[in-house]
Amino acid sequence: MENKQILITGGAGFIGSHLTDHLLEANNDVTIVDNCSNGRTEWVPDGATFVEQDLTAPDALEGVLTSDIDQVFHLAASKAVNTDSPRDQFEANTQMTYNVLETMTDVGVSNLAYTSTSTVYGEAPRPTPEDYAPLEPISVYGASKLADEGLCSTYAHSHDLTVRTFRFANIVGSRLRGAVIPDFIEKLQENPETLTILGNGRQEKSYMHIDDCIDAMLTVIERADGPLATYNLGTRTTTSVTRIADIVSDEMELQPDYEYTGGDRGWTGDVPKMRLSIEKLDALGWGPTHESDVAVREATRELLTTV
Ligand SMILES: NC(=O)c1ccc[n+]([C@@H]2O[C@H](COP(=O)([O-])OP(=O)(O)OC[C@H]3O[C@@H](n4cnc5c(N)ncnc54)[C@H](O)[C@@H]3O)[C@@H](O)[C@H]2O)c1
Repeated sequence: MENKQILITGGAGFIGSHLTDHLLEANNDVTIVDNCSNGRTEWVPDGATFVEQDLTAPDALEGVLTSDIDQVFHLAASKAVNTDSPRDQFEANTQMTYNVLETMTDVGVSNLAYTSTSTVYGEAPRPTPEDYAPLEPISVYGASKLADEGLCSTYAHSHDLTVRTFRFANIVGSRLRGAVIPDFIEKLQENPETLTILGNGRQEKSYMHIDDCIDAMLTVIERADGPLATYNLGTRTTTSVTRIADIVSDEMELQPDYEYTGGDRGWTGDVPKMRLSIEKLDALGWGPTHESDVAVREATRELLTTV
């Protein structure tokens, strides 16, 4: 994607700020809309236009999402699976998506990339393909993203939008917050002797490096067909939570004792085992350059050396 006018919601967050870096390098013009509830102004790359705005307001994108925009990336969301405010999360996520879709239709902008999640599958057989059914999320977060996917489908089929929906595995890299790797780093910085691990440590998920995630998204946008296309973005392998603890400890040159809180999952709504089929992505000629363990190690190094 080069020399385009791009709008990114949630661009001050983890994935959005990396995406912005990449798109600016390819000579695109990038506008970010974010309320910094989880993002940071210092992560907004130089060269991007930053609009501080709460996207739950119906007119939030007025004068910002204009007819000259070639591509919208809608990333803004409340993403905690174990939120204390599920009603607020559900309302905010669906309102934001509705507002983005409505404004795009009003001003005549037709290309949307929507960032969904593996949690829409719930506890499905693995590897899980995109056409797996029934979709039975087990968290309000997953339910809100599935509702958003439904809205995206509606606007693709009835309002002439072209939508690319990405169901992400766990994406990791610098600036990641509120996830297992930064959590272990913080805990070990506070107490290098003992690490408390939520669950039994045998949770097994796929971890994808942020550079692969962005490359895969842009490949799908370039190569996929039809008004609506949904792609899993992940790796072929998984990493257990205990293995992540080993990798983080190793990178921090520590040998802590592990204490497990017990049970097969970290918290209510956590899907303990997740691996997505990436055959559809493979058919576009794209594959990840980092498998799960390597992505976890790389991200740990990046989190330890960058802000
Ligand atoms: N990181 C992952 O592993 C992962 C996995 C699956 C799906 N996703 C999805 O990818 C997207 C980006 O995730 P991320 O990890 O970068 O999260 P993030 O929290 O770092 O980024 C989301 C951004 O949205 C902004 N935002 C939230 N509510 C807003 C509001 N009301 N108005 C304006 N801005 C608002 C936040 O301030 C934040 O900067 C999200 O939609 C998330 O659901 C992420």
